[in-house]
Amino acid sequence: MKKIKISPSILAADFSQLGQELKRLEDGGADLIHVDVMDGHFVPNLTIGPPVIKALKKNCTIKFDVHLMISPVHKYIDAYAEAGADIITIHPEATEDLSASISKIKSLNKKVGLSLNPETGVDIIRKYLDKIDLILIMSVNPGFGGQKFMPEVLDKIKELKKIQTDQNIDFDIEIDGGINFENSKIAIKAGANILVSGTTIFKSNNGDIKKNIDLLKSL
Ligand code: DX5
Ligand code: ZN
Repeated sequence: MKKIKISPSILAADFSQLGQELKRLEDGGADLIHVDVMDGHFVPNLTIGPPVIKALKKNCTIKFDVHLMISPVHKYIDAYAEAGADIITIHPEATEDLSASISKIKSLNKKVGLSLNPETGVDIIRKYLDKIDLILIMSVNPGFGGQKFMPEVLDKIKELKKIQTDQNIDFDIEIDGGINFENSKIAIKAGANILVSGTTIFKSNNGDIKKNIDLLKSL
């Protein structure tokens, strides 16, 4: 089994002191920093853009896992790469030419992630599975933190695990949305190796980030 990684979503952090919040994540043992970028169009919420990522990146040694919920995404890939994204994850519905967007991210020497909304099946990305680094399975409808986990998406993780075995290919499987200390175990057992979490990391146990990260990793 792959090492389990935790990618805290800064959407649940205190935005008035984001730099400090990143330091707390670093001290708490975060493996990645999950940055949710929303455009008020692809999803009904607006968050942060490249200048904020660039500023945060300056004082942080952890890799940035940037989840782009923006459409059309293609023309913004350069800006997020330049701002300091290490992994760039896009939704297939947000680009006119998925193949071109994957190539673009790779040409910038960034890791490529593809994200599937709860209602989107694996078929839309099947032919790209040997070209990408990560699949992000949404376990809520994207747009907001603090939503309820949708267990039905776990079947997609099992399907992806089977494809990996059958075709002898490798990519990370990340799950995002409503992750807590109970469903984290189920997600890991289904085959997820990266867990995104905002609310649980920042709000559980009075915001004891180290404890929350350790609890999310434990089986
Ligand atoms: C939802 C985002 C998630 C979410 C995670 O659109 O992609 O990253 O904010 O937050 P929680 O853990 O609170 O569901
Ligand atoms: Zn996300």
